[in-house]
Amino acid sequence: MHKRKAVCPGSFDPVTNGHLDIIGRAASLFDEVTVAVLINKKKSSLFSVDERIEMLQKETAPMGNVVVDSFHGLLVDFCIERKISAIVKGLRAVSDFDYELQMAQMNHGLTGVETLFVSTNPLYSYLSSSLVKEVATYGGDVAGLIPDAVLARLKEKLDEQ
Ligand code: PNS
Repeated sequence: MHKRKAVCPGSFDPVTNGHLDIIGRAASLFDEVTVAVLINKKKSSLFSVDERIEMLQKETAPMGNVVVDSFHGLLVDFCIERKISAIVKGLRAVSDFDYELQMAQMNHGLTGVETLFVSTNPLYSYLSSSLVKEVATYGGDVAGLIPDAVLARLKEKLDEQ
């Protein structure tokens, strides 16, 4: 049978509970979900791509139909190569909408790959990896916003710096 496949792309530096909520909901709608970590040499990151993949694999393992991979270049090329027909993204607030709509239209125009938006759980509507990192850097409490294992690795990483 033809598998219905979707991709959840992002930087995941590191994965948050908001990401996992969207990935889990995508996994309940599709046969297989690929979490695709963008390799972006221009953007500095706290965690290496391998570390981000490792954390994502651990947190998504219970979902059963999620695979984690990395990509560079265009997301639509990754989709075509793997026969993935949909991109699933979370929309936190109206401020996400302009840029997301633009990317969705560009990606559809380029290749016909569809983008589906999932409304973020209001519990996580203010959450982003960059805010988590900033708050944690200055000693703020981010427990409950990221998985416990990710929190432990974030603390280790910040202590190293
Ligand atoms: O977690 P992020 O950094 O907000 O994710 C952004 C991401 C990876 C989804 C986006 O930057 C992307 O798709 N980049 C890949 C390059 C690409 O395809 N660019 C054209 C988009 S229309």
